[in-house]
Amino acid sequence: MSKHILITGGAGFIGCHVVQLFVNKYPDYQIINLDALTYAGNLENLKEVENSPNYTFEKVDIQNATALEEVFKKHQITDVIHLAAESHVDRSISDPLAFVKTNVFGTVNLLNVAKEYWKDDLQSHLFYHVSTDEVYGSLPEGGFFLETTAYDPQSPYSASKAASDHFVRAYANTYGMRTVVSNCSNNYGPNHFPEKLIPLCINNIKNEKPIPIYGKGENVRDWLFVKDHARAIDTVFHQGEAGETYNIGGFNEWKNIDIVRLLCRKMDEKLGREVGTSEKLITFVKDRAGHDLRYAIDATKIKNELGWEPSLQFEEGIELTIDWYLANQNWLDHVTSGAYQDYYKELYED
Ligand code: NAD
Ligand code: DAU
Repeated sequence: MSKHILITGGAGFIGCHVVQLFVNKYPDYQIINLDALTYAGNLENLKEVENSPNYTFEKVDIQNATALEEVFKKHQITDVIHLAAESHVDRSISDPLAFVKTNVFGTVNLLNVAKEYWKDDLQSHLFYHVSTDEVYGSLPEGGFFLETTAYDPQSPYSASKAASDHFVRAYANTYGMRTVVSNCSNNYGPNHFPEKLIPLCINNIKNEKPIPIYGKGENVRDWLFVKDHARAIDTVFHQGEAGETYNIGGFNEWKNIDIVRLLCRKMDEKLGREVGTSEKLITFVKDRAGHDLRYAIDATKIKNELGWEPSLQFEEGIELTIDWYLANQNWLDHVTSGAYQDYYKELYED
């Protein structure tokens, strides 16, 4: 029987790359993209595949169990790749309950509907939950997160993702569902909403606006190109073992301040500005509450067991990313109009 895969959150940053990869690479699969289209969801991200015969979009909130049941029946869903989530740490600090509703309640709703729909044949179906390295907490200067590292989430966002991971594993243990979880490091690339560090900096440099750096810019993140994450999700979905967890990352740690300086240098070059012009925009602002110092993923297991590794070097990925934003002014204009202006003012200017 052909696969009918429900991909949730497919209109968001990572989801749109996963949907495109699956629609193009697997013409025999039906790909059903389910997304509530919150501020972070954008169907413009899916223009390339919207008319493909193996692609369908359903505007549904994962908090709505009845609507989920209808989608499972209508499309005879065989497998789930679950990415829908509230994803921004700063928003979780100002509105934690929104994160509980979507990330915890929404995930349990989806698990319930899948379990019920697949109940006669649980072993033929896979529920793949896409999660984050932030569930492991914050690292000091040395060491890496392993799949066996104890959970220690520090923000309302990571606490909600940790809870959802626990529920997925609990459904495997208690009800015998086939599940798999992957925990990935920071992604960057095209279609990234400009509330996150890299696209926010690119947008502000372009518009000659101050670049807000939290604290001293010493925090470290481990960056992976989004299409490499999508490839990893493809690998885990097809080759991963049910019940397992796979860490995904690029062994690519950067201090925030160093990444911002790199963006400034590259954009001065591309925009024909004098060297050093954009660095003058760097502005140190109040630190994020409870700001995690460092994340670093050990991605040895997925490399050794499933043969996945990143395809791009960071310098190459960042060039592609900047070029994409410079070539897609319309996309940026659409996502930064309206509500984005209010959000930006409240977080950075009030
Ligand atoms: P995003 O915020 O760009 O996209 C989230 C998508 O989910 C949006 O399209 C949004 O409309 C949709 N959504 C939100 N609430 C919903 C709801 N209640 N019902 C249905 N749809 C809803 O997020 P992203 O950065 O693409 O992250 C996708 C997933 O990957 C998340 O689960 C996130 O925790 C995880 N993740 C992200 C990163 C990263 O660096 N961005 C790294 C590791 C893991
Ligand atoms: O590690 C994976 C996680 O990476 C994902 O699970 C999250 O969904 C994703 O948003 C991301 O979380 P971060 O908090 O690490 O990403 P963000 O881009 O918000 O911030 C990256 C770093 O830059 C962090 O140390 C905070 C800092 N920062 C961020 C913003 C938005 C600034 O200094 N200034 C800013 O304006």
